[in-house]
Amino acid sequence: MVSRVIPVDPFDLVIFGGTGDLARRKILPGLFRRFVAGQMPPEAQVVGAARSEMDDAGYRDFVREAIVEFAGPLSDDGTQVDGFLERVSYVAIDAKGEAGWDALRTKMRGDLVHAFYFSVAPALFGDIAERLHLHGLAGDESRIVVEKPFGKDLDSAKALNATLAEHFHEHQIYRIDHYLGKETVQNLMAVRFGNVLFEPLWNAQYVDHIQITVAETVGVGGRGSYYDQSGAMRDMVQNHLMQLLCLIAMEPPAKFEPDAVRDEKLKVIRALEPVEPHHIVRGQYDKTVDSVGYREDVENPRSFTESFLALKLHISNWRWAGTPFYLRTGKKLRARTSEIVVVFKDAPHSIFGADAGRHRNVLAIRLQPNEGMTLDVTIKEPGPGGMRLVDVPLDMTFADALGPEAEQATEAYERLIMDVIRGNQTLFMRGDEVEAAWAWTDPIIAGWTARSDVPKPYEQGGTGPEDSLMLMHRDGRRWRELKT
Ligand code: BG6
Repeated sequence: MVSRVIPVDPFDLVIFGGTGDLARRKILPGLFRRFVAGQMPPEAQVVGAARSEMDDAGYRDFVREAIVEFAGPLSDDGTQVDGFLERVSYVAIDAKGEAGWDALRTKMRGDLVHAFYFSVAPALFGDIAERLHLHGLAGDESRIVVEKPFGKDLDSAKALNATLAEHFHEHQIYRIDHYLGKETVQNLMAVRFGNVLFEPLWNAQYVDHIQITVAETVGVGGRGSYYDQSGAMRDMVQNHLMQLLCLIAMEPPAKFEPDAVRDEKLKVIRALEPVEPHHIVRGQYDKTVDSVGYREDVENPRSFTESFLALKLHISNWRWAGTPFYLRTGKKLRARTSEIVVVFKDAPHSIFGADAGRHRNVLAIRLQPNEGMTLDVTIKEPGPGGMRLVDVPLDMTFADALGPEAEQATEAYERLIMDVIRGNQTLFMRGDEVEAAWAWTDPIIAGWTARSDVPKPYEQGGTGPEDSLMLMHRDGRRWRELKT
């Protein structure tokens, strides 16, 4: 595989919350990897900004540790680490006061690309946006990057959008959903719109149903207070699974350009039907003899927040009327697996008779781990004894097909940050998309509150509550196995 690094323009990137967890785990190691890949031009610099008093040397120590811990084997090369650290500096800044802003301004240079990463609590977005303007740091071409959670419901998302809009135009705002930066998520678009094979069959006439699974083995330990206010719906479904659903269900955009793609995604969200209560399964992982349960993890013995959610959805448009979409996500499940499974309908007539059994084409797109695709095709079982049919997978694991470089593909955050510098918003959520997603989510959550819905306990290391299996069984279908 030929690896191609497209250089970006010189930039000043300021990370507010530069000493925070996201900066440590994802943003700084990601920038380092881009530096090693040769994508950071010599003039580019990274400025950490946070409340703590610290000098450049102290911050560089922090960044070095972050790289060693999270940047993988590339961090073994000390010369590269030192080279990257030369580009890094720090400013102690008060988001709610005036301290530090002048010092930051003196670091910003002429007409380079200026990007400001708001890796802070949303409550600070307004303060930072305002001070960037007040202190002459932001112009019409500056970019800001904001993280999820983008609100907790429609009203709060609207308020956040309005706050940002007071200071920045929509074309300057990059709302990150890191799922959109995953290699295979973009591959969804390549598979759908780069091949003639699939698109003619990609509709209710040929597709029986679609499954989207994002299963995790981790629990919520360490993030309990945030998670217990969010649950799987706000933490995963409203954003990550919704984005996957949009990409799998949208109409072909005329061009791979930001608004062309985002217009089509928005139409999918707006066409979602309200979800019937009996098409929703909520669960909470139970304690075991040697492991605490959800309620202990979040230190809330009466919590009714879900750590598992399965839903059956319908999209009311010509392409998808009548085809159910089943979504599920959960913590402490059997395997860490994210995949999208398109189950096609049976052939209209079997010339091989009833004994040949029922066979279906299934396209499974694995987002993680072992990114790849399999397509189950029906063939004759080898050997004598008549026409017995069997389904075999055409298996394309990308690392096998494309070589080891596929495994080292750019991580989501690296790609997305470089897209910010390039000024490409295709893989970022537009304000109206986020609001539409909340508009669909809000009544579902309100229904749980109104019904005092209690999530079903489920066993750790399994596949979620029994009811999630029933959601499929009732329709004569079943979830694809969660493989470890
Ligand atoms: C985050 C959620 O957005 O995505 C986490 O807040 C979740 O709860 C994580 O664990 C999953 O991301 P990934 O990339 O590990 O699949």
